[in-house]
Amino acid sequence: MARILITSAIPYINGIKHLGNLVGSQLPADLFARYMRARGHEVMFICATDEHGTPAELAAAKAGKPVAEYCAEMHAVQKGLSDGFGLSFDHFGRSSSERNHELTQHFAGKLWENGYIEEVTERQVYSQADGRFLPDRYIEGTCPNCGYEKARGDQCENCTKQLDPTDLINPRSAISGSTDLEVRETKHLYLRQSLLKDRLEAWIDSKTDWPVLTTSIARKWLHDGDGLRDRGITRDLDWGVPVRRGGEPWPGMEGKVFYVWFDAPIEYIAATAEWADAHGLGEPAWRRWWRTDEGADDVRYVQFMGKDNVPFHTLSFPATIMGSGEPWKLVDYIKSFNYLNYDGGQFSTSQGRGVFMDDALDLLPADYWRWWLLRNVPENADAEFTWEHFQATVNKDLADVLGNLASRVTKFCRSRFGEAVPEGGTTGAFEAALIARLDKRVRAYEDHMEAMEIRKAAAELRALWAEGNEFLQEAAPWAAFKEDPARAAATIRLAFNLIRFYAVISRPFIPDASARLMAALRCEDWTWPDDVNRALTVLPAGHAFEVPEVLFRKITDDEREAWRARFAGGRG
Ligand code: 2FM
Ligand code: ZN
Repeated sequence: MARILITSAIPYINGIKHLGNLVGSQLPADLFARYMRARGHEVMFICATDEHGTPAELAAAKAGKPVAEYCAEMHAVQKGLSDGFGLSFDHFGRSSSERNHELTQHFAGKLWENGYIEEVTERQVYSQADGRFLPDRYIEGTCPNCGYEKARGDQCENCTKQLDPTDLINPRSAISGSTDLEVRETKHLYLRQSLLKDRLEAWIDSKTDWPVLTTSIARKWLHDGDGLRDRGITRDLDWGVPVRRGGEPWPGMEGKVFYVWFDAPIEYIAATAEWADAHGLGEPAWRRWWRTDEGADDVRYVQFMGKDNVPFHTLSFPATIMGSGEPWKLVDYIKSFNYLNYDGGQFSTSQGRGVFMDDALDLLPADYWRWWLLRNVPENADAEFTWEHFQATVNKDLADVLGNLASRVTKFCRSRFGEAVPEGGTTGAFEAALIARLDKRVRAYEDHMEAMEIRKAAAELRALWAEGNEFLQEAAPWAAFKEDPARAAATIRLAFNLIRFYAVISRPFIPDASARLMAALRCEDWTWPDDVNRALTVLPAGHAFEVPEVLFRKITDDEREAWRARFAGGRG
């Protein structure tokens, strides 16, 4: 049994996430966590809300609420939605937690002691109209790299380049729109990540098994002159982790907080400590996941994130860990994703464009979305959500293939044999050939899941379902029943076991449907089919069952058009 630490990029607190956000980290991370648990491994699956920085302050101001209150409310909303989607986090923390305050200040103190932080007097944009400095998203303007006109002061959404507010062309305040801006001097802390260039480069070079998307972004940043530029890790904001070290205010840094991207990844560690606190466990319980001197040397740590997050996770966060000089766990594998687009354009939080997590659950249960999103995850290129494709996928894969098999088998059995797995008859070469095919496919499915090749895994799973349907079609127990009821009974007995086999292997993708199938089969044996032959004899003759409610319903053309129209105008 291995120990696997899994983190998903932590979503910003500012509002409900859209399906593009969901499929770019949390959902694939959940798939992997569920799969690894199903294989008997010890898993720690962590996520949280990213509550600091200008996104949180701006959203709270818009909602007319104090930022702490806004964050507490939105955390509860996001937690409810992640539960609704079946995201099986061991803990869904908050980057504003006391644990994260302590750890962030701890890391800054160690980096300072080791010479990786310096105090820099820098030039910051000050707005006369707003009476304050304008860090990060408080300022907008044209990206000097790609010309995108709505680039933010910290990063260009269009070309993903990290920016400083003073880099922007034609800057304006995001609070008041004022262009009456001036540059004033103020002192900030800088992370001297350039000193770690060689170590970071050697570390990234050693990751020969990482996805190309991850390493190509990391290398581009390493080699593009200013990717590893020393950067300010403090801000003139009220909301955030106060700049302190050794339990005391940091001289000259009064009133400043750490930059959100400094404290956010540290929350992966802090959230694990929050998990221990929530379960009344002591320090060793979480430290054994994170400290290589306290048990984490045998942990495999996998991170999931969208491509825009890769630079922070391949350079700045590892620089924080390396520079601390302490034995904290570095990531072993980074699975990153491209973008999901929405119906001919982009999903957009600011424009309310696309389907958001709450909307999605209003329309259909989570498994419909989980299946489409994971089967079409933007793994090797950007992907696109269209209502036609969603309808076709749900209707074919879920309703016609998997749902139909469960419904036909259980209904036929009830009407001909009663509500128990039938007795009599034996299987032969035909069934043995099916089992051999299933065995080959389930091993391929496992390989894809281990390798986090999600599209390939989904395709293999669908092929496994299709094998069952084709088998049933050819064996045609409804026809055989008249002449050879024993033969029909043997087919149906195998088919019941196939349903259970599918419930077990499909659970990482569609956990609710799997649970409903198992409930209908009155079975609690979720043992993974290491041995397919044996897995297909778990339900013996005489085992009672119920006909399940419709597992997946079809989406009608009228619904598809109504939904398309409903989401055409944005959320407003
Ligand atoms: O892009 C985002 O949504 C960020 N909130 C991700 C942060 S991930 C990590 F650093 F914690
Ligand atoms: Zn740009």
